[in-house]
Amino acid sequence: MLKKIPFFNNKQSKASIHNTERYTEDNTPDHVAIIMDGNGRWAKKRGMPRVAGHKEGVSSVVKIVKAAVKCKVKVLTLYTFSTENWKRPKPEIEFILRLPKGFLHMYLPDLISNNVRIETIGDMENLPATTREAIQYAIDHTQDNDGLQLNFAINYGSRHEILNAMKEMLTDINDAGLSLDDVDEQRFSRYLYTAGIPDPDLLIRTGGEKRLSNFLLWQSAYTEFWFTDVLWPDFSEKEFLYALEEFRQRRRRYGGI
Ligand code: FPP
Repeated sequence: MLKKIPFFNNKQSKASIHNTERYTEDNTPDHVAIIMDGNGRWAKKRGMPRVAGHKEGVSSVVKIVKAAVKCKVKVLTLYTFSTENWKRPKPEIEFILRLPKGFLHMYLPDLISNNVRIETIGDMENLPATTREAIQYAIDHTQDNDGLQLNFAINYGSRHEILNAMKEMLTDINDAGLSLDDVDEQRFSRYLYTAGIPDPDLLIRTGGEKRLSNFLLWQSAYTEFWFTDVLWPDFSEKEFLYALEEFRQRRRRYGGI
C-alpha cells in the first residue's frame, strides 16, 4: 500500500542551513512535537480522496524522522490520531489507524539500525488490535535503543490525559499514603503519558491553523511554537530545518528577564 522511500540520503551542502551536520545536541531542541495538519486539503487540491493525503503524509513522517535523527533531536512526538478524530467518517478513521502498521512494517529495520526507540502517548486500549500489536511489537524491539525517541501520540487528547492523571493522583492520595503537601508540578507530571520525557522545546504545526487542538496542553507551557502554511504531505526536511534554525534564534526566558 505504501511506497517505500529511502530512509537515508546523505548528499547535502555543508554551508547552508540545510546541512544537518550543523545541528549538534547543544543547539537542537531536545523535544520536537508536531501537529501534522493539512492532509485532507492536500488531497482535495489534487482531486483525490482525503485518505490519499494521509497516505502521502507517511512519506513526510519518514523524511522528518530521518531529519530528526540527523539533527540529534532526542524526542520527536507526532500527533497521529487525537481523541477528537473519532468524529471522522469510519473509513477515514480505519485508514489512519492502519498507517502505523504499514509504516512500521516497512521501516522498522531502518528505525532499529538508526537506534530509534518507538513509544506512544495516548490511550492504546481502544485501538484496533492489529494497530496495537504492530506498535507494541515495535516498542518491544526498540526498547534498548538510546537514539531518537519516536513518540506516536495516538488516541491522544490532553484534557483526557490531565483528568486521568488527576484521578490517579487522587487515588494515590486516598489509598497509597500520598499527601496533598507532596503534590507539586513535578509529581503531577509523573501521572501524565509523558512521564520521564522532557517538555517539548519546539512545537511545529503545519497546514496554516494556529491552535493546539488538545495537544500537550500541560507540557507546552514554555514551548516555542512554529507555524507554517505548508500542508503536511508537502512538509520536508527543508521546512523542518527552517523551524530548527528559527528555534536557535529564539531567546527563552521562562518568565524571567
Ligand atoms: C490532520 O490532517 C491529520 C491527521 C488527523 C492524521 C495524521 C496522520 C498522518 C500524517 C499519518 C501518520 C502516520 C504515521 C505512520 C505516524 P487533516 O486530515 O485534518 O487535514 P485537513 O485539515 O486538510 O482536513
